[in-house]
Amino acid sequence: MATNDFGLIIGMMMAIFMASFVSADPDLLQDVCVADLTSGVKVNGFTCKANISADDFFFAGLAKPGLTNNTFGATVTAASVQQIAGLNTLGVSMARIDYAPGGINPPHTHPRATEIVFVLEGELDVGFITTENKLFSKTIKKGEIFTFPRGLIHFQINNGKVPAAVIAGFNSQLPGTQRVANALFASSPTVEDVVLTKTFQIGTKEIEKIKSKFAPKK
Ligand SMILES: *[C@@H]1O[C@H](CO)[C@@H](O)[C@H](O)[C@H]1NC(C)=O
Ligand SMILES: *[C@@H]1O[C@H](CO)[C@@H](O)[C@H](O)[C@H]1NC(C)=O
Repeated sequence: MATNDFGLIIGMMMAIFMASFVSADPDLLQDVCVADLTSGVKVNGFTCKANISADDFFFAGLAKPGLTNNTFGATVTAASVQQIAGLNTLGVSMARIDYAPGGINPPHTHPRATEIVFVLEGELDVGFITTENKLFSKTIKKGEIFTFPRGLIHFQINNGKVPAAVIAGFNSQLPGTQRVANALFASSPTVEDVVLTKTFQIGTKEIEKIKSKFAPKK
């Protein structure tokens, strides 16, 4: 192989490698590809449906606050490809999160997206933790913005006395959410107790107690 060819191949490999860093979702190959959420065909994303309209790009679900009378005192209302079929292949989505006073959006990650939040109302203490276990945290108020880098564990808590709300933007049509506590203590089937007792260096009783808190309530 000539040295030039070798250089070209290295260059191409680097370009592909870099591209995988600069974009979360892959690039589009056509103007639109409105998701056919009912199609059984499995592809990376969703297959496109033929008969589309403006409503496929519309969603009114973030206009009103979500109910916060739950265990965590917070509700995430998603506006992803699952609510807006037209987002399929477009690489963006949004959400609204409402927090009662004391409410928390517990530590979680979005494996496929960076998140940027804009505070609509109230005040929140927010933070993310890097892979080197460094915490970056801040108090953010109405009109302010904070960013949670893709894949890193992050949280928001309303330590104020009034409700709070944010609008979140994501660079993925379906960012995915993995809550740390739910993943470890409420998976199906459950993670073996011995994994958790050794990980957290506590007894089976404590592990069972935490697991019971996450058991589906009837
Ligand atoms: C396309 O969808 C609209 C409603 O969204 C429906 O009225 C119309 O009959 C559909 N056309 C075809 C060819 O399926
Ligand atoms: C939350 O409040 C709504 C209406 O205000 C009610 O319908 C719902 O059952 C409540 N949920 C819980 C978990 O208390």
